[in-house]
Amino acid sequence: MVPLLLILSSSLLISPTSSAPVHSFIQCFTNQTNSPNLLYLPNTSYFNSVLLSSVQNQRFLLSPSSTKPSLIVSATSASHVQATIICARASSLRLRTRSGGHDYEGMSYSAFKGPNSTPFITLDISALRSVSIDTSLKIAWVQAGATLGELYYAIAQNTKTLAFPAGLCSTVGVGGHLSGGGIGSLTRKYGASVDNIVDAWLVDVNGRLLNRKTMGEDLFWALRGAGSAGYGVIIAFKVNLVAVPPKVTTFNVDKTLRQNATKVVARWQELAHQFDVNLYIRVIAQADTDADGSKTIQVTFNSLYLGRKEELLPLAQQSFPELGLKATDCIEMSWIESILFLYSGARVPPEMLLDRNPEFNSSFKAASDFVKHPIAESGLEEIWKFMMEAKDEPLVLILDPMGGRMSEIKEEAVAFPHRNGNIYNVQYFLRWFETEEGVTEKHLEWMRKLQRFMAPYVSSKPRAAYYNYKDIDLGRNVEGKETSYLAARIWGAKYFKGNFRRLAKVKGRVDPENFFWNEQSIPVLQGFGSLRELL
Ligand SMILES: Cc1cc2nc3c(=O)[nH]c(=O)nc-3n(C[C@H](O)[C@H](O)[C@H](O)COP(=O)(O)OP(=O)(O)OC[C@H]3O[C@@H](n4cnc5c(N)ncnc54)[C@H](O)[C@@H]3O)c2cc1C
Ligand SMILES: *[C@@H]1O[C@H](CO)[C@@H](O)[C@H](O)[C@H]1NC(C)=O
Ligand SMILES: *[C@@H]1O[C@H](CO)[C@@H](O)[C@H](O)[C@H]1NC(C)=O
Ligand SMILES: *[C@@H]1O[C@H](CO)[C@@H](O)[C@H](O)[C@H]1NC(C)=O
Ligand SMILES: *[C@@H]1O[C@H](CO)[C@@H](O)[C@H](O)[C@H]1NC(C)=O
Repeated sequence: MVPLLLILSSSLLISPTSSAPVHSFIQCFTNQTNSPNLLYLPNTSYFNSVLLSSVQNQRFLLSPSSTKPSLIVSATSASHVQATIICARASSLRLRTRSGGHDYEGMSYSAFKGPNSTPFITLDISALRSVSIDTSLKIAWVQAGATLGELYYAIAQNTKTLAFPAGLCSTVGVGGHLSGGGIGSLTRKYGASVDNIVDAWLVDVNGRLLNRKTMGEDLFWALRGAGSAGYGVIIAFKVNLVAVPPKVTTFNVDKTLRQNATKVVARWQELAHQFDVNLYIRVIAQADTDADGSKTIQVTFNSLYLGRKEELLPLAQQSFPELGLKATDCIEMSWIESILFLYSGARVPPEMLLDRNPEFNSSFKAASDFVKHPIAESGLEEIWKFMMEAKDEPLVLILDPMGGRMSEIKEEAVAFPHRNGNIYNVQYFLRWFETEEGVTEKHLEWMRKLQRFMAPYVSSKPRAAYYNYKDIDLGRNVEGKETSYLAARIWGAKYFKGNFRRLAKVKGRVDPENFFWNEQSIPVLQGFGSLRELL
């Protein structure tokens, strides 16, 4: 069987031609910018390499139910973004912005194919990626097309004692990540990325370039957690930098079921959200085979301590003796070195943070839940059994501790609402190769089964989910049908809890015609809405 990926480069990527609107766009854009060289049509030789340059999930390129962009615009200045918005509207094309291309449902470079699909343009802003650091004011301006790795690297080039709280994966883009939340190893101490954004530049639906003052506080509030895709195009964020010591300590401690993994994870659930905020321990669990060939679960306690080893050891002994942390498990390094070590377990030069190439050439599906009460040992055993029985489903379970600063910030402070009461986030992550037809549907079905199975263990009413771990199975907007606020609340309340209504009102103010639409963009709510919508 020929792997589908091998034929990717030819026929599969050709988009449905929609010449008239595309032609009108090209004329308009060229007239406005005099830069036709920034445009890539599907029938030109560079289109595929530009399209694939940041794609992390092959699923949407291979899926017969997805469409690809009719054109890619590779913007190198804010004026190109302005022209793209104005010309796309004038040509009745839709727009999807792409920064780092890590969207879990491919929404920056593909769309759900339906009877009323409108052709769309992908506005790729990966060239807009400069970072400027001011160590005395402890701030950075970072353009949205930069990756987290580029931001981290730029900070470390200037100082060894400042950092930024965001995700662990260095190829993730600032544009999507910072506006959707941003959780990682500094979150317990400093909050999510959204809690550390102080200003932004955004181009709105009328092509105006706005900052915090000119866009209005309600829109600036929405951009901190609800993503930006439904509101405009982010050009840059101004962020606060946070203090880290010159040396931090990292460790990975592995346990299998025979090594009491279940007991230690059970204990971790009670403790991890209450540890000293300098101590971050996440749990990564996968089905594995033991030395004697029997099935087991391998658990890794993947950790960062903001301080020296000699302080960590007594702290770990006192607050989490069940882990059995030893001096030989601990490695001291600078914060910048810890980024790739925590993510990959490899000690590599920090220059690797600048590598933007996609890490994988496979497909994945992920989803998330929040956990409010520790799962009993018997419950963990049921979950392990579920994972071990599915031998063709190499699920990775990632438990990310909350608490600390995350519990202090109010749910309505910014759009990201997952605060006090959550002890950890659980992410389900499954990767596969599409070697034959039907493989993907089988994996997706198993993931849905897993989510049903997990229901008793996780938050409910609403069953909360993290927007940056976008999951289309929660519900979606259908193109050509106006989605009511009420219908969208089914998934909107999961991502945004009590903030969803205000998000829809902001959308109604800044994009009343819903130009910035995607399958999970915030719906428009204007006036007071209907009586039922008030409830
Ligand atoms: C391997 C991997 C590891 C990850 N690790 C973490 C982690 O540790 N912590 C965490 O919190 N999250 C993590 N994520 C999730 C990540 O935060 C989200 O997928 C994020 O939205 C990706 O942003 P992006 O710019 O790379 O993606 P894109 O696909 O470019 O964009 C994502 C969404 O944002 C929109 N968008 C992008 N840029 C802009 C812009 N400039 N203006 C307006 N809208 C825009 C897109 O249209 C799309 O809807 C991870 C994802 C992957 C694939
Ligand atoms: C995908 O990547 C793997 C590992 O990096 C490699 O062995 C394989 O050949 C690649 N497959 C394709 C189809 O590119
Ligand atoms: C590519 O497509 C565009 C628009 O659809 C068309 O104008 C152009 O002639 C095509 N070019 C080639 C080389 O086929
Ligand atoms: C080109 O732009 C000018 C103003 O910049 C405008 O007057 C003119 O109508 C435009 N032409 C086309 C074909 O869009
Ligand atoms: C597992 O726990 C049991 C009982 O609590 C203990 O006797 C045993 O030493 C532990 N095993 C390991 C490998 O820590």
